[in-house]
Amino acid sequence: MDPLRNPYAPGAGTPPPELSGRHDLLEQTRIALGRIRLRRHAKSFIAVGLRGVGKTVLLREAVRLARADGFQVCFIEAHEHKRLAELLVPSLRAVLLDLDRLGRLSADVKRGLRVLKSFLSSIKLTYGDAELALDIDPEPGVADTGDLDIDLADLLSAVGRAAAARDSQIVVIVDELQYLNARDFGSLIMAMHRCVQEQLPVLLIAAGLPHLVGLAGQAKSYAERMFDFPELGALSRTDSDRALLAPAQAQDVDITPEALGEIYETTRGYPYFLQEWAYHAWNCADGSVIDRADVVAAAKKVERQLDASFFRVRFDRLTHREKTYLRAMASLRGPSVTASEIAFVLGTKTQSLAPMRGGLITKGMIYAPNRGGTAFTVPMFDDYLRRAMPDWVPPTAKGDPVSKSEVAI
Ligand SMILES: Nc1ncnc2c1ncn2[C@@H]1O[C@H](COP(=O)(O)OP(=O)(O)OP(=O)(O)O)[C@@H](O)[C@H]1O
Ligand SMILES: [Mg+2]
Repeated sequence: MDPLRNPYAPGAGTPPPELSGRHDLLEQTRIALGRIRLRRHAKSFIAVGLRGVGKTVLLREAVRLARADGFQVCFIEAHEHKRLAELLVPSLRAVLLDLDRLGRLSADVKRGLRVLKSFLSSIKLTYGDAELALDIDPEPGVADTGDLDIDLADLLSAVGRAAAARDSQIVVIVDELQYLNARDFGSLIMAMHRCVQEQLPVLLIAAGLPHLVGLAGQAKSYAERMFDFPELGALSRTDSDRALLAPAQAQDVDITPEALGEIYETTRGYPYFLQEWAYHAWNCADGSVIDRADVVAAAKKVERQLDASFFRVRFDRLTHREKTYLRAMASLRGPSVTASEIAFVLGTKTQSLAPMRGGLITKGMIYAPNRGGTAFTVPMFDDYLRRAMPDWVPPTAKGDPVSKSEVAI
């Protein structure tokens, strides 16, 4: 079919033609925003899920809803090599300058700008002076201790007050939250805690990989009471069918039940893969119906393309030892495997692999779905590893203690 009319949108953060199966979380977002607007308490939330389930898409939708509700939005994407302060300052500065422009002189808004100036002087940032120039004096004794826990709480509280003075609200939206280091994460939680205690109109909506729940608890023990951690997962069969059918039918194209079933079975309902499969099946189809044969014809193309890009970029970020570790994990074929099972396959001790496991969690490649368990954060990465390293043989299979046939590879 005409690729120009292809409605599907495989990508990163690309809004899907039909945002399916997220009704409850969007409703939760609407209610939280609405309550903050009414100056009532609303729980901030951190959505967690594997790669490609639609976290960024959801956050983008939250931005849209918040803007429509008159919120000031501070959107950042956490980064392994960037400090939280570095990421937050430009957008908090923009928010404050915007609030300043919004009406007549406001003491709270001017104070917000002075507190930001204090914050800038205490936290050494790597910006050029011109980029963050603020033609105002600092607020002595506020946000200037050099301790991020205190200074960020001072700053966010001052920004919240400035927003309240303008009858506005702030939503801080953070994507890839798991990349914040423990210190920065702790400071962010403390700053939100302060805003809650002072009943300021500030909400945090964030998203990241599943191990964030544990990280939040480690950073501050009260985090689990402050935030909800809704899980974003694969779509149900019904939601998957809707995600695929609605965009097609909007263009008078149909998809047979067999084709829908085939896509669901292959993709297991993971949103990113659904978009990829549907996109290629559309291009393979003739006429105005996508049938199972089109999906089967598309499958090889999709697999080749994913191997060359989506999976490959992640694979290339790994060291040789990390690849071996993950390949051993893939050989166990479980949704979740234990560290000792992996160590057994590699013929070594669990403890000696602990730093590697920790490093792979930090890199966002694996997570612990339960105590002692290990699973991939990228759906179907295990299948890919078996394709990418077909000749790999576990060390235990080479020697005596376990015969090759006893370890599935
Ligand atoms: N609810 C949904 N229904 C259909 N498609 C969706 C849905 N949510 C996301 N998608 C599609 O899935 C793909 C991945 O979405 P997104 O980038 O938001 O995932 P993510 O969870 O942020 O992934 P990552 O962890 O890699 O950043 C996009 O192509 C998007 O269009
Ligand atoms: Mg994302």
